[in-house]
Amino acid sequence: MKVINNKVLSFDDVILEPQYSNLKTRKNIDTSVKVSTNKNKKDLVFNIPIISSPMSTVTEHNMSNTMIDQGGLGIIHRYNSIEHQSNLLSKVNNNLYKSAAIGASGDYKERLSELVKNDLNIVCIDIAHGDHVLMENAIEFIRSEYSHLFVIAGNIATGHAYKRLTQAGAHAIRSSVGSGSICTTRIQTGHGIPTFQAVLDCYKAKLELQKLDQKTSYIIADGGIKNSGDIVKSLAAGADFVMLGSILSGTEETPGDVIISEEGEKIKKYNGMASKAAQKDWKGTYNSVEGVSSYVPFKGSTKEVLNEIMSNVKSGMSYSGAQNLNELRENAVFRIQSSASHIEGNPHIFNRK
Ligand code: IMP
Repeated sequence: MKVINNKVLSFDDVILEPQYSNLKTRKNIDTSVKVSTNKNKKDLVFNIPIISSPMSTVTEHNMSNTMIDQGGLGIIHRYNSIEHQSNLLSKVNNNLYKSAAIGASGDYKERLSELVKNDLNIVCIDIAHGDHVLMENAIEFIRSEYSHLFVIAGNIATGHAYKRLTQAGAHAIRSSVGSGSICTTRIQTGHGIPTFQAVLDCYKAKLELQKLDQKTSYIIADGGIKNSGDIVKSLAAGADFVMLGSILSGTEETPGDVIISEEGEKIKKYNGMASKAAQKDWKGTYNSVEGVSSYVPFKGSTKEVLNEIMSNVKSGMSYSGAQNLNELRENAVFRIQSSASHIEGNPHIFNRK
């Protein structure tokens, strides 16, 4: 047993110090990320660094198509039959950005083979504890059998795990364990690391690999991102992308019907994939429950949600004097904040007596 005395940091523990800026307009701020893939040696360009979560109440073909149209990515979830998932993937219009999630055991090889027949180009090996021998084996299998695929692996929460999966051959890694808005992993298991800290640790590991001239992988901040401020903090801390579940939940493009609540409000379902409800939906039974299911307000179109987020992200970049995401990482100065400072950062006119 070992006790590490440094506190782990969450988004609300830090604040970015405003920096000198010479940017005259936000119009020219560039939020794009270029990713090289093995397929035809073509670069994938993402104009916005946002990926929708592979969850049954977030991403099927409608969300995937909208995310791609808006410059991001949507990963079709794996909580369905192989046939159904392949059918959803076949409805994604842009082959270069066709993405699905698979597991790392059970039917995953068969599932992958069917998805590849439907032009899968980006595969996400989606397991709760990604720092695992099954994950390493799955990455190695995919890299040897389907070398054209771009491989996203996760979730992991430490620099060691980042290095292990990068060395196994992953191209991008989902970072954080136990931070999701619908997640009970930390309560149930006592394990996890907040997303902000996980990104900092993975980025440190990435710089160490870079120094040794070794291959690195992209970092995806995943879980617990509540607002555009958290997105800016993630990107400034070293994430190349953020993955969003709750922020995109409840939009028109998410699977599922709009329901009218008892209070007359429009709502939609948002379920943790390890919640009782989600497990019952896809496998008829449940075990090791590590999530909750909920309803969220109907939010209208994903495009509008993304436009608002990206306008705020650009504003955040201008506060750090950054024209692009590399400059954001270079210029960012994080300060640890007190809880009084965090409270002051929220509107507080209503609390005054
Ligand atoms: P959110 O954006 O905070 O809602 O978090 C979404 C992320 O939570 C997903 O991308 C997954 O990494 C993670 N996740 C999804 N379902 C569960 C669950 O049932 N338990 C724990 N984590 C989950």
